[in-house]
Amino acid sequence: MSTDILLQTQGLALAYGAFRAVDGVDLSIRRGAIHTVIGPNGAGKTSLFHCLTGERRPSAGRILLADRDITQQPAHGRVKLGMARSFQVTSLFQELSVRENLRLAAQGCDGWRALNFWQRLNKRREHLDRADEILERLGLSSRAEVDAGELSHGQQRILEVGMAICPRPRLLLLDEPTSGMGIDDIPSMTSLIGELGKDHSILLIEHNMSIVMSISDTITVMNRGQILVEGEPDVVRNDARVRDAYLGEAA
Ligand SMILES: Nc1ncnc2c1ncn2[C@@H]1O[C@H](COP(=O)(O)OP(=O)(O)O)[C@@H](O)[C@H]1O
Ligand SMILES: [Mg+2]
Repeated sequence: MSTDILLQTQGLALAYGAFRAVDGVDLSIRRGAIHTVIGPNGAGKTSLFHCLTGERRPSAGRILLADRDITQQPAHGRVKLGMARSFQVTSLFQELSVRENLRLAAQGCDGWRALNFWQRLNKRREHLDRADEILERLGLSSRAEVDAGELSHGQQRILEVGMAICPRPRLLLLDEPTSGMGIDDIPSMTSLIGELGKDHSILLIEHNMSIVMSISDTITVMNRGQILVEGEPDVVRNDARVRDAYLGEAA
């Protein structure tokens, strides 16, 4: 595999019974890229996402992370190898402050290693520093002491992304981070993802086309479980096959 490629799938498939929701997908995500997967409803995007995070075991094919075969790795094993997905709103501690949520996410990746008392104090400082650093990136510093449950829905989704990057993952996986967000919060999420793309490789699934076209380096269009078209935003935007696939959805 080229050293330029961080994650690759080869002939990836996921069947639900006889139905192949993902049907032979060869995907390559370059290091440092924001790589977006789009496609009409039911195209297989979330199924692909679940195969990558380890929530679903593919029925065929392989997944390689920097040349290492991770197809059989469980989800937590992939997190340890540097793959993070955004948390769900339900995973936020609603009654803890925004900062405390981030501190816990930063601590989560150390787990049992911090056994020694002094080491624990040092680590606590480190985790708080990390939390403050992320608060700043999220534009939530002024909300640091507010309970997570008091943030707007959009801000909670931004906080989830922040929690996902606490352990400094190599690859960040986001499935429709703007879904359910009010129109006012969407620009902050868009610029956040764009910013994070400078430090992380990102696999993004997104339906909001103005976001997709403005921040993606590469776009893969899926349809009926397969890759229909792949390329830079301008190429995808002008491809008649893509338009047809979306028209099929509206019909
Ligand atoms: N757990 C499941 N069991 C059976 N069929 C499923 C399941 N999850 C998704 N599907 C079907 O697989 C197809 C792809 O779904 P999904 O991956 O969610 O697509 P997308 O995220 O692109 O909208 C759809 O036809 C959907 O109905
Ligand atoms: Mg989906």
